[in-house]
Amino acid sequence: MPALDALLTLDHPDDYARWRDRKLAQAPQRLEDLIVEVRDPRRLSEAERDAILDRCRRANMAVYATALGDDPDKAIPRRLGEQLGLGRLDRNPGADEDAVTALSVRSDAFHRGYIPYTDRPLAWHTDGYYNAPERQISAFILHCVRPASAGGVNGLIDPEMLYIRLRERDPAHIRALTNPAAMRIPPNLVDGVEIRPARIGPVFRGGERGHLALRYSDRRRNIEWQEDAATQAAVAAIREFLDDPLTPRFEARLASGEGLVCNNVLHNRSRFEDEIGQARLLYRARYYRRIGAT
Ligand SMILES: [Fe+2]
Repeated sequence: MPALDALLTLDHPDDYARWRDRKLAQAPQRLEDLIVEVRDPRRLSEAERDAILDRCRRANMAVYATALGDDPDKAIPRRLGEQLGLGRLDRNPGADEDAVTALSVRSDAFHRGYIPYTDRPLAWHTDGYYNAPERQISAFILHCVRPASAGGVNGLIDPEMLYIRLRERDPAHIRALTNPAAMRIPPNLVDGVEIRPARIGPVFRGGERGHLALRYSDRRRNIEWQEDAATQAAVAAIREFLDDPLTPRFEARLASGEGLVCNNVLHNRSRFEDEIGQARLLYRARYYRRIGAT
C-alpha cells in the first residue's frame, strides 16, 4: 500500500501507478481463487488463517468453505472475527442481543420495510454507509446457515478495483468522490421523530490503518449527491462501472457452512425464494476494524 496520500490526492501519480500495477498483477481472477477450505472457523489452523489473510490482502475478501452444514452456532462468525483481529462488533439497531445479526425474511413490526429482512434484491452498497463518522464499518463477515431454495446470489466488487477504473477514466472523479460533502444521507424520520441524523461524507476516504475505504449506496432514493457537475459525472461513472462486465467482480451463492470475510467490499444480493419452513438464514457481523495484516 502506498501512503494513503497517493490515493486520496492526485499529487503522487507515480506512487499510484506502482500500486495499481502491483494490485492488478496480484488480483484473484475467479471465485475459486478466493475460496479457502476451513475445518472449523471457530478454531483456524495457522495455514487456514494465512490463506484467508492472503486472499484479503489481494482482493479485500475471502470465501471460506466448511463441512459444518447448517450448524446455527453464532460463535462461528464471532470467533472467526476474533482470530482475524477484528475486535469489537458494531451493534446496529437490527442486530440481536449478541451483535451478530440474523438475516432472514422477517415481518415483525421492528424489521418490516427494511429491505435486508425481505426476499427482495439489494442494490450495490457498502455496509453502514449511514453510520456516524466515528462508527464506519471497515469489515464484515457473512456466514450462511441455510441458503435460499433459489436466488440469493451476492455480487462482490473490491473497492480498490472500482477506484482504479474511476481514476483511469478520469482522475477528476477521484477528486469529486473524496470531497467530504460528496454524499448526504437524509435523516431517518419515523412518525416525524428523527431516529438518525443526516450523514454527510465522502465516497472514498482514508480508512482504518492507512487504507483506502469506500462508502457507497446505489439506492436512488434517500441518497443526496452534491449537485455540481463533477460529482454528478463521478456518480454516473460508478453506476456505469458497477454494471460493466469489465469491472472485476465475483458472484457467490453461499452454501450451508460457507461464508465471506471482507474489508467491507461492495456487494449486492439477488432476489431469492424460500421454501416454507426452510428460510434462508445468514449471520452478519460488522466491525470498525479492518482484517488484521491486510
Ligand atoms: Fe450489506
